Amino acid sequence: MFTRRTILMTGGAAALIGGASAVGIAHGPGLAKARAPWRQAGESFGDPRLDALAYAILAPNPHNRQPWRFDLVGEDRIDVHIDLDRRLPHTDPFDRQITIGFGCMLELLRIAAAEKGYLADLTPFPDGKDYPRHTGSRIAQVTLTKTNDAERDALFANILARRSTKEPYDTSQPVAAETLNKVIAAGQGDLEIGGTVETALRDRIIDLAWQGFTIEYETDLTRRESIDLMRIGNRAVVENPDGIDLGGVQMGLFKMTGIVSPEGLDTPGTTAFEQGVKMYDPIIHSAQGFAWIKAAENTRLTQLQAGRDWVRMNLAAQKVGLCIHPLSQILQEFPEMAAPYASIRQELGVDADGVVHMLGRVGYTKFPPASPRWPLESKLISTGA
Ligand SMILES: Cc1cc2nc3c(=O)[nH]c(=O)nc-3n(C[C@H](O)[C@H](O)[C@H](O)COP(=O)(O)O)c2cc1C
Repeated sequence: MFTRRTILMTGGAAALIGGASAVGIAHGPGLAKARAPWRQAGESFGDPRLDALAYAILAPNPHNRQPWRFDLVGEDRIDVHIDLDRRLPHTDPFDRQITIGFGCMLELLRIAAAEKGYLADLTPFPDGKDYPRHTGSRIAQVTLTKTNDAERDALFANILARRSTKEPYDTSQPVAAETLNKVIAAGQGDLEIGGTVETALRDRIIDLAWQGFTIEYETDLTRRESIDLMRIGNRAVVENPDGIDLGGVQMGLFKMTGIVSPEGLDTPGTTAFEQGVKMYDPIIHSAQGFAWIKAAENTRLTQLQAGRDWVRMNLAAQKVGLCIHPLSQILQEFPEMAAPYASIRQELGVDADGVVHMLGRVGYTKFPPASPRWPLESKLISTGA
């Protein structure tokens, strides 16, 4: 996956940035609108379901596709639906990662409801579980009940600061095992959560992660899936606050002047294409350690649980000031990935029925700004009774 706006900074392009008058034109709107949902969480919407959902939509999710839709039924029920057009058919052919994203969202929903004294009673896949891909059945049915027993979760305090930090990490600042352990301990349920800061294992995983990245990048269909989701420049991010956001003044200029185009990014041999590879090298190779989630079986239920665990680990990392970033390429089930996919399973000790659901690197750097989100109202199918 491509992430950072530094990706395409070529010499010629850099020189262009000097032209201050052009900056205003290319800049377009600021990114405040795309980040508005982060400010709206905490407002009172007059319905506890909306109050909780305002936090839930801030969940991490693959390529920030935000594939959820909510139907508020009666007085207290939320039916969670999937927008089938927001999946990633090439990098996520069996909707495994998309389902993990739903798990992240549902856990934030539960935590936010509990904060207001509501118990979220969750029925996963009430219409049955779809394999190998989702077909539109509900992902979950959630009922909120006011209670005195809803135990508040200390991780609530970290929801608004939580980030997937996709920048290179500081290679002079190792991660202590006890810090990583605090992240691992945040998981709940019966999946196997682990991690390492041990140099030899870390470096072997880095090698595999790098192989995974280059395979995803060099496979036309998977590279194109990412490129199609790039939002280049602030205007594009505000118009579509999802996908891979490459906002900022520079990107607006690059796009306006034709320096950055989806075609250039998709053409091996161009500067843009080569810069994409160069940009990811320090990101992967600066990993100071890894955390992972394994499951004994690759079922829809373990996928949801992995999401719930991942967002808890992400919140716990934020709490201790640690950056964390999923590197999912080697976990992907498209045919070209078969060799490193087998190697990471072997490295992490997964048997024939098992699966590695999440793998993320850890380290330290400055936390980035919040990622874009579609407003809550755009995700509502109906608002109930
Ligand atoms: C199942 C899953 C897989 C992900 N895989 C990747 C990945 O391979 N590379 C990456 O940069 N981010 C990955 N992410 C992080 C998302 O890109 C990120 O959550 C999204 O862009 C929103 O940003 P935020 O988490 O900072 O709010 C993944 C997230 C989830 C839940």
